[in-house]
Amino acid sequence: MDMKALILSGGRGTRLRPLTYTGAKQLVPVVNKPILWYGIEQIVAAGISDIGIVISPETGDDIRSMTGDGSQFGAKITYIPQDSPDGLAHAVKIAKPFLQNSPFLMYLGDNLIRDNLVNFVEKFTQQSLDALILLKQVPNPTAFGVAVLNQQGNVIRLVEKPKDPPSDFALVGVYLFSAVVHDIIETLQPSARGELEITDAIQSLVDADKNVMAQPLQGWWLDTGKKDDLLAANQIILDETLSSKIEGQVDDATKISGRVAIGHGSTVINSTIRGPVAIGQNCHIENCFIGSYSSIADGVKLTDIELDHSVVLENATIQDLHQRITDSLIGRKAQLVQCLDRPKALRFMIGDDSHIELT
Ligand code: TTP
Repeated sequence: MDMKALILSGGRGTRLRPLTYTGAKQLVPVVNKPILWYGIEQIVAAGISDIGIVISPETGDDIRSMTGDGSQFGAKITYIPQDSPDGLAHAVKIAKPFLQNSPFLMYLGDNLIRDNLVNFVEKFTQQSLDALILLKQVPNPTAFGVAVLNQQGNVIRLVEKPKDPPSDFALVGVYLFSAVVHDIIETLQPSARGELEITDAIQSLVDADKNVMAQPLQGWWLDTGKKDDLLAANQIILDETLSSKIEGQVDDATKISGRVAIGHGSTVINSTIRGPVAIGQNCHIENCFIGSYSSIADGVKLTDIELDHSVVLENATIQDLHQRITDSLIGRKAQLVQCLDRPKALRFMIGDDSHIELT
């Protein structure tokens, strides 16, 4: 039976508030492309084209209208509304009418991984597994779901956010399951935080002597549902994928070095841009220094500022700041305008529709 994919793109998004009050975290752009789309592209590249996307009542319509029926990715997308974010295993449960008895790849819509998914799909299929989980060694296992393996690489135990971690292998947000997981999920009870946990489902598969294996990731893994991972993802993807392409207007006084992309309808005046930097369409940039690892979305206005290692979302305005903005995430339509000199560093996480004046 052909494999399907299930992308989880609902959830609360508490860790990226206030951005997620007004928008889906899975649609936050990394190098001016929604995070969710990287996952879709990887799934399609692994040969899976029948994709279900779990969406929430709050942000589902945006995800649906941005992402469409899947034809732009060479896939067929089915949207699956989840009334409330009752856990990763709950999302699988409500997706059963879509998944039916197919084996499936489950992908957390705010995660990004470097590795190609093909090898994982092959391993799962060739070894007729009931679950294959991906693992990554992390320095702080207490913050993750952690797996304990035997010498053959079989999973023997999973522990959610352990106080005393039995291993430093964290569960990455990509999993493969056979249809057996549905019977297991039927038997689950909500956890202490009131959710149906996917780690409990996997543990139950292990306890039922099903064939559950783990595979370490070779490349990086980022959970962009957090600000610092989002900035790290922006940096890595700029490093690995950006090519120079100037489509907007750049005046003679502007100096550009390194890889820089500037979209149609954007104007850059008397500025220095040091790549890798991605600038979207219809931006206005004047008297600025834009340093490396910055992504500027469409319609952004920047005047008399210095900025690096930051992500600025659509239609934000930043003006006349006399300190450099660094490691920052600026929300849609945010306005950041300085009126007086104040010689101090500023580090921001500013939400959508914020309006900030430093006077
Ligand atoms: P999480 O980031 O673990 O959960 P969350 O979105 O509620 O975020 P936070 O911890 O910041 O409050 O979820 C991982 C992915 O799975 C994410 O893309 C949201 C999605 N998800 C669902 O689709 N349904 C759910 O019930 C849950 C819990 C998450």
